[in-house]
Amino acid sequence: MSPFALTRTLPPDATTAALRADVAIGLTRTPKELPPKWFYDARGSELFDEITRLPEYYPTRAEREILHARAGEIAEVVRPRTLVELGSGSSDKTRHLLRALPSIDHYVPVDVSESALTGGAETLLAERPELTVHALVADFQYGLALPAVPGPRVLAFLGGTIGNLRPAERAVFLATVRSGLAPGDAFLLGTDLVKDERTLVAAYDDAAGVTAAFNKNVLSVVNRELGADFDHDDFDHVALWDAREEWIEMRLRARSPVIVKVPALDLAVHFAAGEELRTEISAKFRQERVYAELATAGLEPVRWWTDPEGRFALSLSVPVSLTA
Ligand code: SAH
Ligand code: TRP
Repeated sequence: MSPFALTRTLPPDATTAALRADVAIGLTRTPKELPPKWFYDARGSELFDEITRLPEYYPTRAEREILHARAGEIAEVVRPRTLVELGSGSSDKTRHLLRALPSIDHYVPVDVSESALTGGAETLLAERPELTVHALVADFQYGLALPAVPGPRVLAFLGGTIGNLRPAERAVFLATVRSGLAPGDAFLLGTDLVKDERTLVAAYDDAAGVTAAFNKNVLSVVNRELGADFDHDDFDHVALWDAREEWIEMRLRARSPVIVKVPALDLAVHFAAGEELRTEISAKFRQERVYAELATAGLEPVRWWTDPEGRFALSLSVPVSLTA
């Protein structure tokens, strides 16, 4: 088998078809809304990588610290042959896992961003040429048709990306994860933790404006794919902390009344001055909530690690056996 294979479970035109549906629904409802996966074209994936290096964006550094210190302890629970990583992006943190878990010889990165997948796999293979990489261009929210890979497997979902799903979506997602695990497998989950509002808002509204550019990139995607005429300068980036829901909400706020044409949908979208388009939530967690959601899905947490400052958590869970 060649060391690198790429499979698309999304048909080539699925992206445009799904984007059309999301734009048609999301830009004609109140409040206006677009799902976050549309941030991540090649440019969006690059901008996200830039975000991870910003002084204000602590989650990447905090999670990397935990992986660096604790990845070896994963071997006390599971001796994986395969690492499956959902929303793997550039696979930058993956090398810590691979280094600490020498039993892994198969890696299955799953992401909607094909450019991130190929770039990440290339870098990893340069370091670990004996690794078999089977990259999957797929939407992790719509079932997981994983290739046949040897077990035991660790399924990893890092970066706090689970916080980008709403609670009902998380329940579906975690149940899908559970149904994909066999006895002897494990689930490694990264969750960003509730903390003071200033730190949280700064992480999503950096001084250099990279997050603003990332948020607005979704407008470029709609322009390119559907011929729309969004102008970045018509919108302000907004990040606010919802203390009741305990999530950051990302929005784009129209500076003045704007009419945007979307020719592919024969649609004209009206924004009133100050009207907001919701682009993403990023939920922050407490240990109790993570444990409760895992339990509901039939997953039992067996390890919980945080960075020394308590900003971010990694948990390791095993599938609850229904027969024991
Ligand atoms: N795991 C990396 C990247 C996190 S950014 C890290 O910790 O730094 C979130 C990643 O998830 C992006 O690479 C994005 O392309 C991917 N993603 C977002 N929504 C997705 C979906 N519905 N299906 C598959 N991948 C998705
Ligand atoms: N999963 C990342 C997070 O919630 C994604 C992210 C970081 C993001 N910064 C963003 C998404 C800004 C939209 C806008 O932390």
